[in-house]
Amino acid sequence: MGQCPACGQWNSISEVTSLLPTAKNRKTSRAIPVTAMTPKEALKAVKGNTWSTGIAELDRVLGPGLTAGGVYLLAGQPGIGKSTLLTQLALSANSSDRKQVLYICSEETPAQVANRIERLKGKNNDLEHISLLGTSDLESALDTLNKPEAHPSLIIVDSVQSISTGSVESQPGTPAQIRACTNLLINTAKSTSIPIILVGHVTKQGVIAGPKLLEHMVDVVLQLEGDRHHDLRLLRGIKNRFGPTDETGIFQMTSNGLEVLADPTSIFLSNQDGVTPGSALTMLMEGTRPLTSEIQALTIPTQMPIPRRVAQGITTARLQLICAIVTKHCNINLGNMDVYVNVTGGLTIREPAADLAIAMAIVSSVKGISLPRAMCIGELGLLGEIRPIPYLDRRLKQGKILGYTTFFTPETHSRIQDIKLSKKVVK
Ligand code: TYD
Ligand code: MG
Repeated sequence: MGQCPACGQWNSISEVTSLLPTAKNRKTSRAIPVTAMTPKEALKAVKGNTWSTGIAELDRVLGPGLTAGGVYLLAGQPGIGKSTLLTQLALSANSSDRKQVLYICSEETPAQVANRIERLKGKNNDLEHISLLGTSDLESALDTLNKPEAHPSLIIVDSVQSISTGSVESQPGTPAQIRACTNLLINTAKSTSIPIILVGHVTKQGVIAGPKLLEHMVDVVLQLEGDRHHDLRLLRGIKNRFGPTDETGIFQMTSNGLEVLADPTSIFLSNQDGVTPGSALTMLMEGTRPLTSEIQALTIPTQMPIPRRVAQGITTARLQLICAIVTKHCNINLGNMDVYVNVTGGLTIREPAADLAIAMAIVSSVKGISLPRAMCIGELGLLGEIRPIPYLDRRLKQGKILGYTTFFTPETHSRIQDIKLSKKVVK
């Protein structure tokens, strides 16, 4: 059309080709011949296409490292350290061999990212392999890949919520935009064999913003977690098409970025060592790694008509359930007590293996009796029974390595009321 039917202007209309295949242009485009492969041939085609990121804890979660053509989603709350981790990845990408990194900064300006690079680079002055691209327009960003001199080995998109494609009319961050951009990026990754890492924000409720579909579309979903007021960060593999999903990386946020801890097994302990009333130790499993954790409980007479149950690091529902079990089976009236439970170090506990430690910490606080230097490992049932949990032998082994000799487990006691505490009252 030469004239716009809406405003009457001449020559104001330009032709735009839809980047996503529509039913119409799919019919007209010639079919690309595809050939079937044996599993052996398929494996051969990708062999050697996985490379280490140079960050040990990241490799641990990724499994084999970064795989050619893989699409990765790094999710986490704002300010948790996603950009920091990816900046460090960009910096370390050329440690083994020359890997070019294309960093698409749609959220921050290239200068802001460059500032972070300057801060994190340390003694590494070789920054030639990083290209920063300040745009929120996905087509123009991907256009740079067509230039013959551009051969990135990795593309980072920070973030998927702030980038947009012209093929969809809605604002960046809307489900339609996120889906279209991710589709385009997946196609790019598969056709060029360049791995792409997307940053995805998480809403207050803890779900990845945008359509749930995003998690299904990508190959790997990693979640960076932690308490903003503590410096520990956990990188959890939630989905992984290339390796194990149950691995967890542990980092510490320092002024030099995210650092790998030499021995993370007992970093979550306060220095009370579990011998003060209200404190109980447990051994959690984060992926395949045992982690010592301390549960602290405080119980005081309530001033409220309904007593308070305040939990940090476990859900309030879990705390209410454990309070009910303690009330019924340990014969302790918590009906007029406020109960506060805290997991030290800002750790969030998801597995029920800590139930026994939570109950013991509450009992210990109510009675003013300190527990022996012991570890409490087990799930609690509604009948007061201590249930078996996975990897008990591994947890015990790690506890023994750390010098613990007393363990309360499903093997030593079958019910919570069977555990007798010595009456050594501490004020
Ligand atoms: P950032 O990676 O920008 O978070 P995200 O991309 O997930 O939103 O990290 C932001 C926080 O990290 C910020 O509050 C400052 C802190 N930080 C450090 O403590 N040390 C560092 O070296 C860097 C780069 C950031
Ligand atoms: Mg960021």
